[in-house]
Amino acid sequence: MFKRLSPPEATNEAVVTFRFDEQTVTARPGDTVAAALLASGISICRTTPVSNTPRAPYCMMGVCFECLVDIDGNPNVQACQVEVSDGMHVHIQPGARRLIS
Ligand code: FES
Repeated sequence: MFKRLSPPEATNEAVVTFRFDEQTVTARPGDTVAAALLASGISICRTTPVSNTPRAPYCMMGVCFECLVDIDGNPNVQACQVEVSDGMHVHIQPGARRLIS
């Protein structure tokens, strides 16, 4: 659905590598997690608590909360508001999650 004009590994630019579940994802420094996932062909970030319906990033500006993921063990993180970093571990967020205490 989304495609970069030039993939990060095809240029001389620095590349950031992180994990999304079992996949390795490459991105450009400064990309948000949501943008990097969409550019890599990954569109499902979470599923809804009641019907388990898959959801994808929508607004890309922190309003809709459709992009919630687990990042490095922290649930309910808005993927569109966090920049990628090397070694980051991102997981799909299935259903309801606990609140961070
Ligand atoms: S895509 Fe809407 S809050 Fe992240």
